[in-house]
Amino acid sequence: MIPPSTDTPPKTLKDAAKVIETNLDKSLQASALPPHIYEAAQYAVVNGGKRVRPALTLLCAQAVGGTQDQAMAAAIAVEFIHCFSLVHDDLPAIDNDDLRRGKPTLHIHAGEAMAVLAGDLLLPLAFQELSRGNYVPNQQVLLMDELAQATRDMVVGQVYDTLGGIPEELSEQDALEVIHRNKTGALFKCACVMGSICGQANPKMHHAIEQFGIATGLMFQIVDDLIDLNGVAEHVGKATGKDAEAGKTTYPGLIGVEASIEAVSMLKDQADDALSVLGEQGETLRSFNLWMAHRTR
Ligand code: IPE
Ligand code: IPE
Ligand code: MG
Ligand code: MG
Ligand code: MG
Repeated sequence: MIPPSTDTPPKTLKDAAKVIETNLDKSLQASALPPHIYEAAQYAVVNGGKRVRPALTLLCAQAVGGTQDQAMAAAIAVEFIHCFSLVHDDLPAIDNDDLRRGKPTLHIHAGEAMAVLAGDLLLPLAFQELSRGNYVPNQQVLLMDELAQATRDMVVGQVYDTLGGIPEELSEQDALEVIHRNKTGALFKCACVMGSICGQANPKMHHAIEQFGIATGLMFQIVDDLIDLNGVAEHVGKATGKDAEAGKTTYPGLIGVEASIEAVSMLKDQADDALSVLGEQGETLRSFNLWMAHRTR
């Protein structure tokens, strides 16, 4: 069982979030956009998200012996993709949500056309960020491929989540796992693997980081399902109780709350176990993982 949460984000996340926020802002400014689309992009990006994925990119780079600086462009890129996915996820045609990160969603703030276009914009900006990063060419190609694959998987996951079409031979629970691994897990794995690439991990460490990302990514979405069920919008910063209302398949909806909490606990252990190869150097990621399992927002 997972003990009750104190829900204090680790200092590593708070520190990383600050520098990430600054760099996101700088990157948008460097794009020299017309004022109205710049304002919309800023609204979608520089707005107090938790920055879990880019923080993982920085921390994974460090865990394999690299520096946060080496991984900054990749961290910014993964957060651009995440923000794009949120803007589109909230649209009336998908989840139809009015509240995101404690504020009206972008389509409420700036209209649906601008939300579609600002989401579109963040996709190329992510890849441009990678192309401008100070990477050796081989690293750059690997990073682009990772991010492209994860974005593809995220979109497939969103299609499964919203429109169905999952292979029929899968059991209901396997189908749900496929949705979650795609729509959310893929970008988590990518965030971690990009950190590992930037930190120039050896193959053993790289594998460990990849396994960590896969386990913690699925865990993150199961916790998100639990928060939707149990959370209060004022605390979470987005509407809750929406999944059941929209008839979404979720972990608590399908296997129940207790079994979902068990699944979180199992995936947390799986992620921790993957880190054992890193010894002491895995400690920061381990405590980060503990918080992700217990978070309430
Ligand atoms: C929300 O992600 C969407 C999911 C994939 C669960 P986060 O919980 O990381 O949202 P922000 O970035 O902190 O707003
Ligand atoms: C989001 O899943 C997955 C994305 C790719 C954005 P949800 O629809 O559950 O995310 P929230 O709860 O709206 O943040
Ligand atoms: Mg959704
Ligand atoms: Mg949603
Ligand atoms: Mg959700």
